Amino acid sequence: MLHCGLCVKECLEYLRMEEEIKTIKVTIDNITIDVAPGTTILNAARQIGGDVTPPAMCYYSKLDGSGGKCRTCLVEVAAGSAADPRPMPKLVASCRTGVMDGMVVKNITSEKVTDARNGVVEFLLLNHPLDCPICDQAGECHLQDLGYEHGKEGTRYQFARRTFKKEDIGPYIQLHMTRCILCYRCTYVADQITQKRVHGVIDRGDHAAISTYISKAIDNDFSGNMIDVCPVGALTDKTFRFKNRVWFTKPVDAHRNCTTPGCCGKATLWLRGEEVFRVTARKDQWGEVQSFDGKPGWICNTCRFETKKTESWTVEGITTISRHSVIGLNKYKTLEMPKETVKAVMKGTDPKLLMDIHSVSGVNKPDTHLSELDRAAKSDDFKNN
Ligand code: SF4
Ligand code: FES
Repeated sequence: MLHCGLCVKECLEYLRMEEEIKTIKVTIDNITIDVAPGTTILNAARQIGGDVTPPAMCYYSKLDGSGGKCRTCLVEVAAGSAADPRPMPKLVASCRTGVMDGMVVKNITSEKVTDARNGVVEFLLLNHPLDCPICDQAGECHLQDLGYEHGKEGTRYQFARRTFKKEDIGPYIQLHMTRCILCYRCTYVADQITQKRVHGVIDRGDHAAISTYISKAIDNDFSGNMIDVCPVGALTDKTFRFKNRVWFTKPVDAHRNCTTPGCCGKATLWLRGEEVFRVTARKDQWGEVQSFDGKPGWICNTCRFETKKTESWTVEGITTISRHSVIGLNKYKTLEMPKETVKAVMKGTDPKLLMDIHSVSGVNKPDTHLSELDRAAKSDDFKNN
């Protein structure tokens, strides 16, 4: 007998079976797919894509240990496996539950899931302010999207909301804890891609907050990636805050020969005219950083915060934006407006804002470079004020 309790024959048979099972079948919302053993329900759904994929506010495939915090990815398991087809008694977090051969999962086809997700969104919004009109994350905020899809018109919450003072954590990042949903992603970034973590979740329950310990600054070369992984507007780029709305900017893919070890040098530049307002890592369809050569494409702070001239980059072309995203507005290069109709409707007014805003924009004064201001843009910086 071996120490595990199996005899040699049983053990060999087990290993042979394991080898035979190269893929397993899982059905999600009536779509069957073969996936590798060990795949989570969420990742199996991502392989199918589209609406079948549950939302994920805390899971991040490039960060080990992430997931299991926010419950937005709950799904119903209608049959556990081919061997044991009983349903699971409760909804499960799809980011943390592995698939079994013959498993049947319901996401958008389950009323229970829709109801639970509505409840989760209501919980996430208990304390989160509805300040989208002044939040820099608006237009690319996963909670804003979830709010539109599952939010209720009113709130049942009658108690005082928890609020926090804004905190500068290092020279480039501002933490607005009032907006934080405690997904822990930023702490995983600090743990896994910077040399030292000086922030984390302190206190518990209603007092839980992301903070630096005794106001230590986060000054690591890769700290800016925390901004990219934050699903809401809790961590924002101080060099971009209040300078522009993201849907007025035009994202382009660009690269440079960065010498910082670990930086992929491939980024998205968010332009307005020729000005680079913001530099971020390139994101995939799930809002996560793209991988290059099998590795996550994290970028360093030099690329992100200090390289804001187009000459420093080789522009590859316009970034593909989901057609459902507000950021894609005004980006249709071939769109031709019926000018005479627009002029007639607008009583002769030049329809600048309905055309390609980037080439015709006359909003800021020509000698004012909004992206280079070391403060938020003010009304004086714009024309006709
Ligand atoms: S600051 Fe952002 S990334 Fe960090 S825990 Fe809060 S919501 Fe998540
Ligand atoms: S994404 Fe699964 S619990 Fe948050």
